Amino acid sequence: MIDQITVDRIMDAAQIVDVVSDFVTLKRRGVNYVGLCPFHSDKTPSFYVSPSKNICKCFACGEGGTSVHFIMKHEQLSYYEALKFLAKKYSIEVKEKELTDEQKQAFNERESLFILNNYAKDYFINTLQNHLEGKNIGLSYFRERGFRDDIIKKFQLGYSLEQKDALYQDAVKNGYNKEYLFKTGLVIQGENNYVADRFRGRVMFPVHTLSGKVVAFGGRILKKAENTGKYVNSPESEIYHKSDQLYGIYFAKQSITKADRCYLVEGYTDVISMHQAGIENVVASSGTALTHGQIKLIHRFTSNITVLYDGDAAGIKAALRGIDLLLEEGLNIKVVLLPDGEDPDSFARKHNASTLLSYLEQNENDFIRFKTNLLLKDAGNDPIKRAALISDIVKSISLIPDQIIRSVYIRDCSGLLEVDERVLVNEINKQIYSNLDKKGASNYQQNSDPVQIPAYAEAPEEITSSPAYSSALDKFERNVIYYVIRYGNLPLISDPEEAQTDEPIPTVIEYVKFDLERDNLQLQNPLFRQIFEEAVLHLEEEDFHTNKFFLSHPDNQISKIAAEIMSDRYQLSKIYLKQYGENLPREETPLAEELQLMASVPRVMIELKYEYFSLRMKQVMEELSKAQNSGNMDLAIEKMKEKAQLQIIKKELVKILGERIVLKM
Ligand code: CTP
Ligand code: MN
Repeated sequence: MIDQITVDRIMDAAQIVDVVSDFVTLKRRGVNYVGLCPFHSDKTPSFYVSPSKNICKCFACGEGGTSVHFIMKHEQLSYYEALKFLAKKYSIEVKEKELTDEQKQAFNERESLFILNNYAKDYFINTLQNHLEGKNIGLSYFRERGFRDDIIKKFQLGYSLEQKDALYQDAVKNGYNKEYLFKTGLVIQGENNYVADRFRGRVMFPVHTLSGKVVAFGGRILKKAENTGKYVNSPESEIYHKSDQLYGIYFAKQSITKADRCYLVEGYTDVISMHQAGIENVVASSGTALTHGQIKLIHRFTSNITVLYDGDAAGIKAALRGIDLLLEEGLNIKVVLLPDGEDPDSFARKHNASTLLSYLEQNENDFIRFKTNLLLKDAGNDPIKRAALISDIVKSISLIPDQIIRSVYIRDCSGLLEVDERVLVNEINKQIYSNLDKKGASNYQQNSDPVQIPAYAEAPEEITSSPAYSSALDKFERNVIYYVIRYGNLPLISDPEEAQTDEPIPTVIEYVKFDLERDNLQLQNPLFRQIFEEAVLHLEEEDFHTNKFFLSHPDNQISKIAAEIMSDRYQLSKIYLKQYGENLPREETPLAEELQLMASVPRVMIELKYEYFSLRMKQVMEELSKAQNSGNMDLAIEKMKEKAQLQIIKKELVKILGERIVLKM
């Protein structure tokens, strides 16, 4: 951990123009700088850098943030690594928080295991390139397979000699600790001091972490061997958790971001051949079903996955398996079946990048459609099979967290299956409730809202990709947080002549606090709530400035929200459109905004409350009809009273909202 004082120093030193200039050619435009966005293929400069706010933002693709966010994204580093990167650039000494002895030891041990793996990787490379056996057997095998030398180098491929303990001897000779040789699984320990290398007579594929450290190895046998598998892999260890790693992610991450798509294949050789053909946004699950950890890893870089499978029956079956997990994670999934008898490896070797890409693009199928069509063909006119098929598809659709996307599929599949949309909606709602039962109700809010029957006719005003803003409420809570972060310290009325009483004027934070408390309300989004609570907590401090404080907040999710809000021109213009109509000032930040707090802050609060009470109303209606159905009259009456009360409140709120709209304050 880096302490907050150091973080602040880094943030102060890392002036955004200077940081971005290392990677993007910037031109001055008014108070800002502009350049071509490095995060998408930009034809006209859409990347804005604001020296005064110390943030950057692409108005085409939306990427941006503070210097730290920029470096994280551009260099594909973690928050912590990006801070260190900038500290180095500005020669700031990083004081880490003291680790406990236990933490230190664990840290050192992990480091030692990585160091050992790195040594072993070099050892295997050296054997492949320079040892007679390595060259004759290993290297010639790779060449026969058509792997180019530059690709062999890039993927750090190697060879392990066909001897009992060649690596073990060399490692010990070079002073490596035996204990670590066992812990990484490079060497196997038996009874009576028996030791043997795990990998013998195999070509070696190192597995890299996201940041490029070697975490494990896979070794492929070259001869037809009866009593041993084609591949031997490193065992799980302190540093290697197979379920959290994806083969190829280190080499793929940058192009996944650029292409906003990740190809998913089965194994080592598929990844390598695709790279060699020029497609680099590809990773492998290494022959097993995908795990949640692996999906999360992909999701950090893109929401779009294309799964590549062999075109034979087994490949098709495999394509259907494991995908429900991807749907659940909210990823958009396409499937490409390769021609019968081909796998990505063999297919990529036969084609160059452009024909390969165009094949992939022309043959990609949306997953749900693909599955529906496939099962339909299977079921024919058999009604029982068709019923099973419908329930299968319903299951898949019910896993999709986004209601809008779900409803598009419902419409689509109702056509394909020739089943009434309403029937599907009903089935899917049933399924969603039963998923909820399994998962526990806590997922209800953030995950699958049941489809409301005509609800899918409503288009969302905007779809934000950020997982922080998923529910309907979030939009309104965010508007409040917008003012808290941008103007939290300012009084609602800054012009003393306007203030007619002698009473002290509350700041934005104080007003929001008061307004929430008087109706006994709380922000629902945990991140927004945390932001608000911290703002209240620090309000009294003298040098507390909300925007600086939240931009350099140690929780990256929070500093990211702050950065978005500080560069939020679109959001801003929406609020301003309401007030100015079409005469929105052209300048980036209408100066007037901070003079308008008296009008805008109460307004966003009322809008938020209206939303809260509407949601509560929905809930009460449901409870009411349940109470009526079960004949619990006492409860029903109570609910009816509550309903009447809520109606009054909502009416009042509408009145205030309406007046303000008419007044155009
Ligand atoms: N795999 C594994 N352990 C095994 C078998 C397979 O880890 N015992 C993983 C490897 O990542 C492998 C992938 O599953 O790359 C696919 O397996 P397979 O198709 O058998 O291997 P390929 O690498 O395609 O081998 P080749 O084309 O050389 O036969
Ligand atoms: Mn293969």
